[in-house]
Amino acid sequence: MFTTSRGIALVLALAISALTVAFLSLMESATATLLIVAGGISFSVSYLLMNITLEYLIFKEISSIYVMLEKIQKKDLSNVVDKPNRASISPLKKINKTINSYAVAKNKEIETLQKNAVFRREFIADISHELKTPIFAAQGYVHTLLDGAVEDEAVRYKFLKRAAKSLNSLDKLVHDLLTLNQMESGVIKFHFESFDLKDLVLEVIEELEQKAAKRDVLIRFYFDKKKSYPTYADKDKIFRVCQNLISNAIKYNHDGGEVEVHLKQHKNQLHVDIKDNGQGIPPEDIKRVFERFYRVEKSRSREKGGTGLGLAIVKHILEGHKSKISVTSTVGKGSMFSFELPLEKKN
Ligand SMILES: Nc1ncnc2c1ncn2[C@@H]1O[C@H](COP(=O)(O)OP(=O)(O)O)[C@@H](O)[C@H]1O
Ligand SMILES: [Mg+2]
Repeated sequence: MFTTSRGIALVLALAISALTVAFLSLMESATATLLIVAGGISFSVSYLLMNITLEYLIFKEISSIYVMLEKIQKKDLSNVVDKPNRASISPLKKINKTINSYAVAKNKEIETLQKNAVFRREFIADISHELKTPIFAAQGYVHTLLDGAVEDEAVRYKFLKRAAKSLNSLDKLVHDLLTLNQMESGVIKFHFESFDLKDLVLEVIEELEQKAAKRDVLIRFYFDKKKSYPTYADKDKIFRVCQNLISNAIKYNHDGGEVEVHLKQHKNQLHVDIKDNGQGIPPEDIKRVFERFYRVEKSRSREKGGTGLGLAIVKHILEGHKSKISVTSTVGKGSMFSFELPLEKKN
């Protein structure tokens, strides 16, 4: 009985009313009725006040602290929510709030750890799968050769060439993975320098022209010949960005398709659009093409020598330049990838 707020309030109220009655009885004019009324009033008022104070300021807070501690002990923090920060004079309310914030922070930490664990598991599964494909192919050709195909000169050359192709894609994959990993962990540093973006795009196009010609794809570059396009960025990495985007525009195009590269200056920014009239990307895939290993058509990309890491690397490089990549696409009509770099102002 004495451990509930009512019990304690009852005892205290009795004591207060007894004291009041005792005090009043010392007065000569005090009648029995007055003593009874005063005793009754002081008992009821103190009982009410004590009960409310104990219940709302102490017992309720203690019981919610207890509930929260029990949750922390059981590591069951899934439905703990951050309470609004209302100013309060009660130290118990403050303790309660602190414990609640601690539980919310712990809950977030647990959720992040769980997400990371899932991500790691999926990533390892993806890598193993990606590595397995070229290893398996090369292994197949080499074993067929060892089992006798090596005697046949025509087959020998064809199989060795295919095994070499698989090993090349394995090399490219490992190389891209390392780049991405080093960029994420901050090992690869950015080396900023001044250069003309138009010259860099021209270099990339020159490098990819042969690849485009093989598929009869025409690359057109639009820029103002009278202008220069100076920027301050990591030249090698921006080369890689343009190379990846233009090579995708060729790869995921039809034979005889077209690729347009537009370089424009908008106020203090240089704006690059890489447009193709190829197969396009379905709306449900468009957000995911920047994820590692995400491909719209798995077999088709691999067959074209894709690692599925190109756009993830592009995204990272542009983030390192405080810029971002954007894409719009219509299935059957084509896609457009765009990014911006700052215009370097001449003093
Ligand atoms: N210009 C484009 N047109 C259509 N699909 C594209 C284009 N660029 C990228 N994609 C899609 O996005 C996927 C991811 O691209 P990327 O990261 O460069 O990997 P990949 O190594 O497969 O080229 C590709 O597999 C392809 O399905
Ligand atoms: Mg690519």
